[in-house]
Amino acid sequence: MDIVRSFEDYIKQYQQSIDNPETFWADVAGDFHWRKKWDKVLEWDFHKPEVQWFVGGKLNITENCLDRHLPERANQTAIIWEPNDPSEEPRNITYQELFHEVCRVANMLKAQGVQKGDKVCIYMPMIPEVAFAMLACARIGAVHSVVFAGFSSRSLIDRINDAGCKLVLTTDGSYRGDKIINLKAIVDEALESCPSVERVLIKKRTGSKVVMKANRDVWWDEAIKNMPDVCAAEEMDAEDLLFILYTSGSTGKPKGMVHTIGGYMVYTNFTFRTVFQYQEGQVYWCTADVGWITGHSYIVYGPLSAGATTLMFEGVPSWPDMGRFWHVAEKHRVNIFYTAPTAIRSLEKAPLSFVKQYDLHNLKVLGTVGEPINEEAWHWYHEHIGKGKCPIVDTWWQTETGGFMISPIAHITKLKPAFASFPLPGVQPVIMDEKRQEVTTSPGEGRLTIGFPWPGMARTIYGDHQRFRETYFSTFPGKYFTGDGCRRDAEGYYRITGRVDDVIIVSGHNLGTAEIESAVDEHSAVCETAVVGYPHDVKGQGIYAYVICYDRPHEEEKLRHEIRELVAKIIGPIAKPDKIQFVSGLPKTRSGKIMRRILRKVAEGNTTDLGDVTTLLDPSVVEEIKAGAL
Ligand code: WT7
Repeated sequence: MDIVRSFEDYIKQYQQSIDNPETFWADVAGDFHWRKKWDKVLEWDFHKPEVQWFVGGKLNITENCLDRHLPERANQTAIIWEPNDPSEEPRNITYQELFHEVCRVANMLKAQGVQKGDKVCIYMPMIPEVAFAMLACARIGAVHSVVFAGFSSRSLIDRINDAGCKLVLTTDGSYRGDKIINLKAIVDEALESCPSVERVLIKKRTGSKVVMKANRDVWWDEAIKNMPDVCAAEEMDAEDLLFILYTSGSTGKPKGMVHTIGGYMVYTNFTFRTVFQYQEGQVYWCTADVGWITGHSYIVYGPLSAGATTLMFEGVPSWPDMGRFWHVAEKHRVNIFYTAPTAIRSLEKAPLSFVKQYDLHNLKVLGTVGEPINEEAWHWYHEHIGKGKCPIVDTWWQTETGGFMISPIAHITKLKPAFASFPLPGVQPVIMDEKRQEVTTSPGEGRLTIGFPWPGMARTIYGDHQRFRETYFSTFPGKYFTGDGCRRDAEGYYRITGRVDDVIIVSGHNLGTAEIESAVDEHSAVCETAVVGYPHDVKGQGIYAYVICYDRPHEEEKLRHEIRELVAKIIGPIAKPDKIQFVSGLPKTRSGKIMRRILRKVAEGNTTDLGDVTTLLDPSVVEEIKAGAL
């Protein structure tokens, strides 16, 4: 099916996708390679909830990302890899080479005992092998669970055990600017508590010293020697699992979002081509880490299924200096650049000379994801990076949605700064008010729900369908609840206003307040904690922790430091509280629920207008909290 090429096309396609979703998605899916065509396009019931797309269809996603491109684009670059250190050689991997690399890794996994349906944990930095590994799992029908390599061993334990992973893929170490992180040591610590893991494959990257455990640890480079570079693709059902990816929820336990093969493939491919208007031969760069859904959908599966050239960057935006992104963009003649508002805000603070010294004329399209982009950052990005000529696609979506939901279409949608604009074809947003009534007016405001299934949506939470139903389908029965608030203006443009639940978005990363609270609580001096988000210049939201200690702390700074380090150890450095206020009590209702509204206001610096506090058990704690606000 032809993708949208004009605003009239968009209106037409959108209408078709609403009037007749099954015909619409069957047309889109028809462009892929299916071993066997589906019997039925869609089977659904949001009350159960149950969603199946392309029911009975058989395929392998890697045949769509690799094999089917070989006749036309064997020698085209599939992946450009830019290392952490700019003096190290980048790599260009053609589709032909990628095919063989993936097959070798697939054969290696099989030789290590991995079978169809097995769960494989991938805990690796941004090197090409991480993409080979994901695709290799998909090739043999194993389910990957990529864990962001910035997560601590504790986070790794929870994720490995929840999925029951049999094998872990990692590296000796990873580079992060001028630092080396000893990944293998983190894995070793984790695996003391992970009985399901039988084997660890270690790719050499940093040359860091590694302790190899007998009968468990194997060097990747040894294991892959002599592996054939062709591997037959396993025939999979459209609804078989492709991957599990963990995301934070409003309880401490991360949710293993399950994505299935057929619908996810169709959706990420369609949204990638539509939103970025990717043209043959262009170089596309998404700066996310593969450990997040953005990396899964828009570094690996979307671009590769579309036969695009996708750039993978191992480094950080600030090293060796604040011009690194623009240096890489110039060096690889990047045409489409997709990043997070938090990165833009931090780079915006650096002198403009870091931008001006590079030639960015190849840029045609810019994108953002992860949180609402503020107008100032939008304008800086538009003017200084896009030189006023590149559209910015502000893509709203979630780990749960698999792909873009509400987003401008590059060069086609008339832009409004800080608006995600219109729903993509197939997406039916419904705004609900506090009384659970649909808001049909424009302008209108409320909670954002989606009224109809789309192929990329998560099918369940791994091992906990009940929680899936409660989290997403019970607040507004019959609808998928996103957890976000939104506003629709008179012209029908959507603006996402942020989370309405207990999830905060720090530098574009979704963190559950409960998860951070329980980490802080593990400090022996801490009795109870409440965590809220507050507006932060660079990170979008910062983390503000209110902490009750058993005894009044003597050395507050020392304790703050210990708490931060503890959180870094338990969850990862991104979850470290920015501000820690020691309090003697928390504002609780008579039923014992913490009134976060009050804590949020104080954290925002607003101590005058706290609303009604009379329902509190002990209103006097509010005065103390106000007086001690940081
Ligand atoms: C939450 C999902 C989707 C990959 C990155 C984050 C927020 C995401 C936008 C945007 C405003 C956004 C929402 C959403 N969000 N994109 N363009 N404008 N808010 O994935 O970790 O699953 O987080 O990120 O609050 O619910 P995630």
